[in-house]
Amino acid sequence: MCGIVGYIGNGNVYDILIKGLHRLEYRGYDSAGLALEGEDGKLKVYKSKGKVSNLEEYCKDKSLDAKVGIAHTRWATHGEPSDCNAHPHYSEDGKLALVHNGTIENYKVLKDALMQHGCTFHSETDTEVLVQLIEYIKVKNNCSLVDAVREALNQVVGAYAIAVIEKEHPDTIVAARQSSPLVIGIGEDETFLASDATPFVEYTKEAVYLNDGEIAVIKQGEPLKILKLDNSESKIDVKTLELSISQLEKGGFPHFMLKEIFEQPSTLKTCIRGRVVDDGRRIHINGINDHKDTFLNAKRIVIVACGTSWHAALLGKYLIQDMCKIPVEVEYASEFRYSNPVLDNRDVVIAISQSGETADTLAAAKIARKMGAFVYGISNSVGSSIPRETDSGTYLHVGPEIGVASTKAFTGQVMVLTLLALGVAQLRGTMESDQIAEIGKEILRIPDYVEKVLKLNEKIERLSLIYTYARNFLYLGRGYSYPVALEGALKLKEISYIHAEGYPAAEMKHGPIALIDAEMPSVIIAPNDHLYEKIVSNVQQVKARGGNIIAIVTEGDTVIRNIADHVLEVPPMPECLTPIITSIPLQLLSYYIAINKGKDVDMPRNLAKSVTVE
Ligand code: M6R
Repeated sequence: MCGIVGYIGNGNVYDILIKGLHRLEYRGYDSAGLALEGEDGKLKVYKSKGKVSNLEEYCKDKSLDAKVGIAHTRWATHGEPSDCNAHPHYSEDGKLALVHNGTIENYKVLKDALMQHGCTFHSETDTEVLVQLIEYIKVKNNCSLVDAVREALNQVVGAYAIAVIEKEHPDTIVAARQSSPLVIGIGEDETFLASDATPFVEYTKEAVYLNDGEIAVIKQGEPLKILKLDNSESKIDVKTLELSISQLEKGGFPHFMLKEIFEQPSTLKTCIRGRVVDDGRRIHINGINDHKDTFLNAKRIVIVACGTSWHAALLGKYLIQDMCKIPVEVEYASEFRYSNPVLDNRDVVIAISQSGETADTLAAAKIARKMGAFVYGISNSVGSSIPRETDSGTYLHVGPEIGVASTKAFTGQVMVLTLLALGVAQLRGTMESDQIAEIGKEILRIPDYVEKVLKLNEKIERLSLIYTYARNFLYLGRGYSYPVALEGALKLKEISYIHAEGYPAAEMKHGPIALIDAEMPSVIIAPNDHLYEKIVSNVQQVKARGGNIIAIVTEGDTVIRNIADHVLEVPPMPECLTPIITSIPLQLLSYYIAINKGKDVDMPRNLAKSVTVE
């Protein structure tokens, strides 16, 4: 939700900020803006509704000379997307400019108080309150910018990552974080800051991740200083980034989403690497091995997540219950956090989040930890908040996911959960070693299976043309294929804006069956598993009511082939691995339908990749 970038140094400030905003556009694209300060002593603020390219167009004839700058791409929370509500916001006297990612929950109280002191407001945002408050404190106390920021933040309730610049001191950026990410890139005679490291990866690999309650003072020519809200100094912990620039480019594909779908053979290979050893006979997960007693004694596992990660979590339940015989509950993080959860130190809570920054998942993890549960994070984003707030965990290692619709992260999450379930089963002795070896061997072949499924690409592209103008879709599956149905429906909804519902296939007859007619296609995920005979009946029930069926089946299937209108075949494999494979044709189907409809698949309307607000 919103991306922020800042730069101070001798490089081309405008170019660095704009390039950085493009990299962060996945976080929001309702409006964009920047503030520049140069030797002319002017604070120049340019903003524009819509994507970063609109801002570039707007800036074409503007003065762009600068030594320091901050910039923002917005996902609207308070106030509609408009030029006026775009960031940066500036103070009443025009001396300060500020960008913000997050929400100020007590902004109304603060705004009323500031208005009583004569402040006028020009936007509907909570952010403007923050910049006015900083300026008010600065003038009242006649103090430095950093002191004013610290005092203002002590009055603020909510989440923020901010960067502020001041007209009178164009050599300094003051930045701070609470529950929204912020990372500082240390270059030679130049410093960057951003919501994640992607805006500066080609300039430096040295990064400092700010912690909650920290304020950074970035001053040209001086070493970075980090203070806490009580004014004590923090230790600076410089990390080396493992990100490469090629991971942030489309690599010849028209969209990041398609690139990420096609990357899955290699991302799954990286995800598995070193974790399935001895030719598949042993599972090696550090996050489990380092906490054997916890997993041996766990009485229950609770998985919290949102969106696609929640669908992976649901698969996690099936996997862990099947393999480890531990009861598992799956909760939407946003519901869990306000449901007075009952947890103790024999519960293991798994928090799954691609970005590692989803506000609800992060809050759920913190609550669980406070209650004494052991919290295990599954994330893709190294150095993000969730891995830093958990007791142990596993990274996906599938590389940065930029398309807003999650694809390779989903298959990576399911793979990590499969490995986790097998690893815990191995530890607790709930599976025979030859059962583990059989699945382990097949896991090593997964990248080849994915490669094979991707060969369906052209067939799916042609198929998509038949269904582009359907107004509703039903996705059905049973057992391991039920979460895949939910995920398939979400993919279609979020990028093509077609209404789609995922349903357990047998539940269909309790209501949704009433919707079936020739106008509403059903996508049925029906691999050859222990529920195959059951789902064949469900396929027949749809057909009997005149519905069109696209079925995902196992190679060689003859029964469903004779009933369905279209079949997409996937290779045979153990049941627990089918979700990784059957989800891929659904990703492609959504992609092509959205493309046929002329939608922006990488930046679907109203969405953002990283949801750092409640
Ligand atoms: O970063 P997270 O995995 O925590 O994100 C959770 C959801 O916001 C995310 O999966 C969302 O549903 C995706 N757009 C789905 O494609």
